[in-house]
Amino acid sequence: MGSNSKRILLTGGAGFIGSHLADALIRRGNELSIVDNVDDFYASSRKRRNLQEIGNAGSYQFFEVDIRDRDALRKAAERATPEVIIHLAARAGVRPSIEQPALYESVNVGGTVNLLEIAREFKVQRFVFGSSSSVYGVTNSVPFCEEDLSIRPISPYAATKLAAELMCYTYTHLYGLAAICLRFFTVYGPRQRPDLAIHKFTALIESGKPIPVYGNGSMGRDYTYVDDIVAGVIASLEYAPDPKQPFEIFNLGNSHPVRLTELIAQLEMATGKKALQERLPEQPGDVPITWANIDKAKRLLGYAPKTAMEQGLRNFVAWYRSSINSIEPS
Ligand SMILES: NC(=O)c1ccc[n+]([C@@H]2O[C@H](COP(=O)([O-])OP(=O)(O)OC[C@H]3O[C@@H](n4cnc5c(N)ncnc54)[C@H](O)[C@@H]3O)[C@@H](O)[C@H]2O)c1
Repeated sequence: MGSNSKRILLTGGAGFIGSHLADALIRRGNELSIVDNVDDFYASSRKRRNLQEIGNAGSYQFFEVDIRDRDALRKAAERATPEVIIHLAARAGVRPSIEQPALYESVNVGGTVNLLEIAREFKVQRFVFGSSSSVYGVTNSVPFCEEDLSIRPISPYAATKLAAELMCYTYTHLYGLAAICLRFFTVYGPRQRPDLAIHKFTALIESGKPIPVYGNGSMGRDYTYVDDIVAGVIASLEYAPDPKQPFEIFNLGNSHPVRLTELIAQLEMATGKKALQERLPEQPGDVPITWANIDKAKRLLGYAPKTAMEQGLRNFVAWYRSSINSIEPS
């Protein structure tokens, strides 16, 4: 069986990144099963709509299952018989994780362990984990490098992502599971989560309301277009890791941090409207900058982000305007 026709179990496929990846996997010829509990972190109607749109790419199996429910997950895996697991389901978001650390821990760490157990039991060939740039925390050494072992996450969300990466490593060591952790850097594009800056700001600009600017607006983010992230995930399916220790971490970013003030200016251009701004104090848990060193991903995965921010924002605003009337507010 060619690598493009493998049976893939994708968790979080109803979400923002997962739904784009699902489209690409189906088009690539994979036999796809999605596990997602369509949770209410933001309007589940958006996720149901994503699931419907994935259907335009082709057929797939869907299991409405909570990854914390080991028995239900096992039953889904029995039907999906996956050769590869791509695990993106998570409670996302830095700020809400400070309010609900135990929930984040149970979904992001406990849920990942449940999936690693499935991978072990079903002798899965490869486990790809959707990690986050937030694991780097506050560090003076930019751009962020995968080899940096002195990283200290500063939010429960970030800590759960690092803990889950460590669990992946442990399963490689104990059972020889090939595990690849991909640290995504602030992903944007059509279907983006409504809690993320670009989506939130666009909604406020479009309705003439002020956007909250935390701190002095100098905060930098390495915004990465979702198609580039999807290309990186797909490349990680082709990559042959060292058989003696098949564990790797890759940054998937754009390697071009953009200040908040610059983002707002670019959004003004993309929307053709002036943004009103409200200055607010810095938020706990927010890191001052994210900036990916992508040399390793370039070298080993052939990863090369292609989408300039100007184009990416234009695509996002076009999607936002076309979908605004047909989705519930979150
Ligand atoms: N969007 C970003 O900028 C970004 C950056 C870094 C890392 N990530 C990671 O990428 C992944 C996807 O993020 P996203 O932005 O698409 O988020 P999203 O919230 O749109 O997608 C996550 C999906 O997981 C599902 N889910 C949540 N809890 C679940 C549970 N208990 N059981 C089953 N499914 C559950 C949700 O219903 C949702 O469809 C997450 O792991 C996130 O931490 C995202």
